Amino acid sequence: MVPLVERYRDRLPLGPNDPVITLGEGSTPLLPARRLGEQLGVELWLKWEGANPTGSFKDRGMTVAVSMAVAAGAEAVICASTGNTAASAAAYGARAGLPAVVLQPHGAVALGKLAQARAVGARVLEVRGSFDEALTAARALAERGTHALVNSVNPDRLQGQKTAAFEIVEELGRTPDVLALPYGGGGNTRAYALGFSELGELPRFLAGAAERRRETLATAIRIAEPAHRAEAEQALVDSGGEAVALADDAIVAAWRSLAREEGLFCEPASAAGVAAVIARPPPRGSVVVCVLTGHGLKDAEAVDRIADAPVAVDADPDAIAEAARR
Ligand code: F0G
Repeated sequence: MVPLVERYRDRLPLGPNDPVITLGEGSTPLLPARRLGEQLGVELWLKWEGANPTGSFKDRGMTVAVSMAVAAGAEAVICASTGNTAASAAAYGARAGLPAVVLQPHGAVALGKLAQARAVGARVLEVRGSFDEALTAARALAERGTHALVNSVNPDRLQGQKTAAFEIVEELGRTPDVLALPYGGGGNTRAYALGFSELGELPRFLAGAAERRRETLATAIRIAEPAHRAEAEQALVDSGGEAVALADDAIVAAWRSLAREEGLFCEPASAAGVAAVIARPPPRGSVVVCVLTGHGLKDAEAVDRIADAPVAVDADPDAIAEAARR
């Protein structure tokens, strides 16, 4: 597998002699979704970003941000995170041999993500406050020069993340009519807009946000004050698209459909793009790409919302046959 930075080096900020910190990110599957597509009357594709090394799209940005941080002589990295950025920063920090400090809103991060950051040796600090407060603190600390900030307010992150748009157009052989994705802080929306603009044409963007941003069950996008709001929403307008406010039930319904109809277990927030397409159905026959941003195993405890509990059974064929009937 060619690391993303090698695949797109000519369109990224790294110089020829800069180190490349990679875990084999990018080049993720673009999967046809026939059943869901038929239900929606569109040609539906799923960009499966859960297939990245730490299980989310953050790795695309992190390989560039951490490589650039190493090139600049950074001695440590820091981020605030709802979990995925932390898991990614921690892993790429470890890969680079740099200490990573991750700030997470106390009690609001899915267990899998927390486990990922801890396992690779990050200093995990649970901030008594929201994600937005943690981000403000991380930015202030980074300004002191001791830590390189690797949140998506670091422009190197968006540069890396824009490569997903390149992959989609290469694989489809065209720009999709619609690109749907979750909208938390808006960094990824900006990154896709940047990537498609560099290729000369924007799809119509549908960005699915939680209606109740402060308390959605989709903890990855539990962000009250999107850091990229102005630029992300301008990109939506430029594309003829919109932000779609989603109730948790709509996110869960889309999440369940992806799992049951297509066999794709993403985390709840990752279904927000599909939920946005369901809420704003594109014209029949449109080519639609939904970005599934993170793996379901990160938030395994949430699965109780869409699945039955396992059933205990004796190791006996008759009992099993009986129990297997629904
Ligand atoms: N999907 C997942 C799985 C995420 O983790 C995030 C953001 C988003 C979508 C939204 O992307 O913020 O660029 O609009 N997660 C950040 C984090 C906030 O800390 O991991 P966005």
